Amino acid sequence: MDVFEAIQQRFSVRRYKDQPVEAEKLERVLEAARLAPSASNRQEWRFVVVTDAEVRQKLMAAAGGQGFVGQAPVVIAACAQTDEHVMPCGLMCYPIDVAIALEHIALQAVEEGLGTCWVGAFDAKAVKEILGIPEEIRVVQLMPLGYPDDQPGAKHRLALEQIVSYEKWGQ
Ligand SMILES: Cc1cc2nc3c(=O)[nH]c(=O)nc-3n(C[C@H](O)[C@H](O)[C@H](O)COP(=O)(O)O)c2cc1C
Repeated sequence: MDVFEAIQQRFSVRRYKDQPVEAEKLERVLEAARLAPSASNRQEWRFVVVTDAEVRQKLMAAAGGQGFVGQAPVVIAACAQTDEHVMPCGLMCYPIDVAIALEHIALQAVEEGLGTCWVGAFDAKAVKEILGIPEEIRVVQLMPLGYPDDQPGAKHRLALEQIVSYEKWGQ
């Protein structure tokens, strides 16, 4: 599979099979995150990998009852150990860097026959309590990972002409 195929095939998986993820697949997926780029190579990302069913149920509750968070055999809590560095462009690095690493995870997962879903709808304080994450650490996203029991829907996306201009804004 080439990268573009993985990009085309990735979708938000919201139903998972009751089937564990092999350790070597999980390791490759995490290695894909480790190799991601980051601003000044700061690598502020930290990942808590949860497989315990009881803990996953608690995470599901912290994610507003989104059932697939408890159903997936693995949930990755993507965190940042960060000094909240702001780049000259005015944006903080850490949400961008963690997001890049997470999309590496999502794409490598496709290659492994696995599915993921970005989850930003969660109570960060509750997730910290459940996982023993220190106060100063940011929880950026949750990402369930497992074998899909779900089908992709149509991709509703803006047309290229609506999002790209050449040489100057809007042309
Ligand atoms: C930052 C972010 C947060 C998201 N949070 C949630 C979420 O909490 N629950 C959910 O079901 N989907 C969530 N999604 C998935 C989006 O709804 C989904 O990516 C979008 O509708 C496009 O569909 P696709 O991923 O299947 O291509 C999130 C996606 C992103 C990028």
